[in-house]
Amino acid sequence: MSLSRAGCCQMPERSRADFCRVTGSSTESGLRLACEPRPRRKARASLYWVSGMTRRIITDSAEETIAFGRQLAAELSPPLIVLLRGALGAGKTTLVKGIAEGFQAASAADVTSPTFTLVHEYRAPRALLYHIDLYRIDTERELETLGLDDLLAPDSILLIEWGEKFPHLQGNRNLEITLERVGESGRSIQLITR
Ligand SMILES: Nc1ncnc2c1ncn2[C@@H]1O[C@H](COP(=O)(O)OP(=O)(O)OP(=O)(O)O)[C@@H](O)[C@H]1O
Ligand SMILES: [Mg+2]
Repeated sequence: MSLSRAGCCQMPERSRADFCRVTGSSTESGLRLACEPRPRRKARASLYWVSGMTRRIITDSAEETIAFGRQLAAELSPPLIVLLRGALGAGKTTLVKGIAEGFQAASAADVTSPTFTLVHEYRAPRALLYHIDLYRIDTERELETLGLDDLLAPDSILLIEWGEKFPHLQGNRNLEITLERVGESGRSIQLITR
C-alpha cells in the first residue's frame, strides 16, 4: 500500500457552497439529507435535480471538477463506500483531488492516480480516505489480496475507481458517481445514492 500524506490546505473562496446542496437519504451511510435554497453561484458549474436520489452537475474544466469535489466533501461522512465510474480519463481521479482537498487531507497536486499502487491513503481530521483503483484487478482473488474489507472502518471513506467490475462492491456502495465527457473539457458528473 502506498501512503501519501499532506498537510492542510485552505479551501478557496469559490469552493464554498455555490450549489444547491441536496443529498441522499441515508444518514447511516453518511450522506446528509439537505436541500438548501440555491445560493448565488460563483463557479460556472451548475447542479440540478434529476430525481429524488440523483443529482447531476456539469463542469467545464478540471479545476471546476476539483472545486465540486471540495464541496462534495462537506456532505460526506464516514463510513462510506463511493464508486467512481467513467471511462479512462473521465475525471475520476480529478474529482478525488477535490474531495481530498475538501477533507483537508491532501492538496490536489499531491493526489495522484493509484493505477499501479492500487491504494492511496490520505489522513484527514475527520476521516481516513482511501483512493483505490481497480482497473488492473481482474479477479475476486486478486481483489481479496488488497484486503479492502480491512480498510472499512467507522472513520474510513473508500473512493473506488473501477469498482463496478465487482458485484459485491457495486451492491455495497453508498454513493455512485459517474463521470462522462461532454465535449472537449466538459464533464457530466452524476451522483446516485443507494
Ligand atoms: N471538466 C473536467 N473534469 C475533470 N477532468 C478534466 C476536465 N476537463 C479536462 N479534464 C482532464 O481530463 C483528465 C482526467 O484524468 P483523470 O486521471 O482524472 O481520469 P480518470 O477518470 O481517473 O481516468 P483513469 O480511469 O485512467 O484513472 C485530466 O487530464 C484532466 O485535466
Ligand atoms: Mg483515475
